[in-house]
Amino acid sequence: MPPSPHENTAPRVIFGGDYNPEQWPRETWDEDVRLMVEAGVNLVTVGVFSWATLEPSPGERNFAWLDEILDLLHANGIDVDLATPCASPPPWLGIEHPEILPVDQNGVRLVAGSRNQFTPASRVYRERSLAIARDLAERYVDHPAVVMWHVGNEYGQLDYGDEAAREFRAWLTRRYGTIEALNAAWGTAVWSQGYRSFEEVLPPRAMPYLVNPTQNLDFRRYSSDQMLACYDEQREAIRAVGATQPITTNFMGFFPHVDYWTWADHVDVVADDQYPDHSDANSPADTALVQDLMRSLGGGRPWMLMEQAISSTSWREHNLPKGPARGRLDSIQAVARGADGICFFQWRQSPFGAERHHSALLPHAGEDTEVFRTVCRLGADMKALAPVVGSRIDARVAVLFDWPSWWAAEEPGRPTARMATLEQLNRWYRSLWSRGIPADVVRPGASLEGYDAVLVPHSYILESDAAAEITAAVRRGASLVVGPYSGVADSRGHIHQGRSPVVLTDLLGVSGEEWGGVPDEGVTLQATADWAGAPASPITASVLAERLRADDATVLARFSSGDLTGMPALTRRAEGEGTAWYLGAVVDDAALDTVLAEALAAADVTGPVADLPAGVEAVRRGDVLFLLNHGAPATVTLDQGGRDLLTGADLGPVLSLDSGDVVALDRRG
Ligand code: GLA
Repeated sequence: MPPSPHENTAPRVIFGGDYNPEQWPRETWDEDVRLMVEAGVNLVTVGVFSWATLEPSPGERNFAWLDEILDLLHANGIDVDLATPCASPPPWLGIEHPEILPVDQNGVRLVAGSRNQFTPASRVYRERSLAIARDLAERYVDHPAVVMWHVGNEYGQLDYGDEAAREFRAWLTRRYGTIEALNAAWGTAVWSQGYRSFEEVLPPRAMPYLVNPTQNLDFRRYSSDQMLACYDEQREAIRAVGATQPITTNFMGFFPHVDYWTWADHVDVVADDQYPDHSDANSPADTALVQDLMRSLGGGRPWMLMEQAISSTSWREHNLPKGPARGRLDSIQAVARGADGICFFQWRQSPFGAERHHSALLPHAGEDTEVFRTVCRLGADMKALAPVVGSRIDARVAVLFDWPSWWAAEEPGRPTARMATLEQLNRWYRSLWSRGIPADVVRPGASLEGYDAVLVPHSYILESDAAAEITAAVRRGASLVVGPYSGVADSRGHIHQGRSPVVLTDLLGVSGEEWGGVPDEGVTLQATADWAGAPASPITASVLAERLRADDATVLARFSSGDLTGMPALTRRAEGEGTAWYLGAVVDDAALDTVLAEALAAADVTGPVADLPAGVEAVRRGDVLFLLNHGAPATVTLDQGGRDLLTGADLGPVLSLDSGDVVALDRRG
């Protein structure tokens, strides 16, 4: 995280947001900086969508306004995260060079008038965006306000046009070398799809029927890599002019079109945009998982919440305003889960344009508002939380997740379209969250050294490297829980041959031969006498179930209705110092929670607070224990009290938390 030149080396939580001064007359800027200072804003992201202002016509440069605002911000002690403006090319670029505009799957070329109207594959787009980024970097590399660089914005563009076709073929040539290798990997023997040369291959545009799944999988990989190439060349250009500040771009959580594992090493600070939907009761837990992912992408380093809304968004169908308590909870939750920077979209609410109804730190109604008072209070909270800056979270649980696995799992033409990777991941994670247990999200195949529990909610693609790591972790003493329809395919999306999950059957002691959908009314499971801790309530399963055989595992539950009656549904097997559970169906929340609780207990994994009330989030970051009450008023009993960093009060071990209350107990000394 960048230190501020204004505060020497004193640790600080970054606090601020996107600032678009080009939308405002000069006199507004003075009021902006005055109110930023009042609110405790110490960093703003400038220039994200300023290409047309910086380059009003081809080759022209208009930097005077940017010189002035950067100087003004600096003079007022506000740092800048300076953006390359490449997310939204000016209309003239698409008019002069239509090939820079993206083409959708149906061959429709998109036009200017919104944003993101570029194809990452276009050479002209790349040259022009690089030119403006280079000039910007050269001009401001030594500006004292600039403490960070922000390349583009929310990379996520997909393009199926001719520019993409050319680059996709080049990508495939690098990946496969020969067309024979591509034909084998794509299984083109099916439906007469064999290609004679790479020149014949196209992006997966609109087709009469189901698309070759490996073609889709590779196109997703290519698209992610192509966007990364855009990012990388800008990053290199910024470095090339001597920049020493961190360089990053903003991720979007579990975003479907970018494989952030492959991006993570390319950003100096992992930064993320988060817009939880608070009308969904699961949103605090689901957001916590996103935040654990961000921490994990950075290898445990502090990350940054780059954008969020202080209240409504402009894109959700129906917006429930956040209110002060929720606004505060959202930001402090991110700090608790490892963020050292809390920023928003955006500083001042736009009176015009598509985001005129998107909330901002300074609303249309001005400073005499609940929102602005909330912002000022948050600014003070962030100052008070400075002692946590740089500290880390110790996670003993690994949850496996990978983008290609998600992509391949949800390709059409599968046993049930109701099985959703993220839904399963979220369901499993909620059991951890309710106990105050953080997780590291781990890419299959990465080391599992040091983890006491390994959860595999739904890893469709699993290969032998991942299986070896998983097996070694169990032998060392870890608890492993594997969910249904995992270990189905290899990295090409080809189904492993043999009883499933082929790469894990020895470890699990159970194997399957068929995956099938479960009837709408669900099926029941009956616990066996071997499952001492079985839930008292009846167990049900939905979505998907497997026809299993217990080869060398204890059966904990069997199907008790439907076609699979009498067959194993849930098993357990000891291996080395650890234990492996297998779920052969999507079981109900209570049963899932019981299995996960058993696995965590077997590995002695506990949260920082025993008997955490429902709705209260507990997370320990470094020496600080955060308690966030997302639910009804609750009493939390701790083994010891501590000083609340947010209020300075010394608190005893029994805490009454109102809805929306947050404490940050300093446990040092
Ligand atoms: C993202 C974008 C911003 C803005 C907000 C709106 O964070 O990066 O430019 O559009 O969404 O929620």
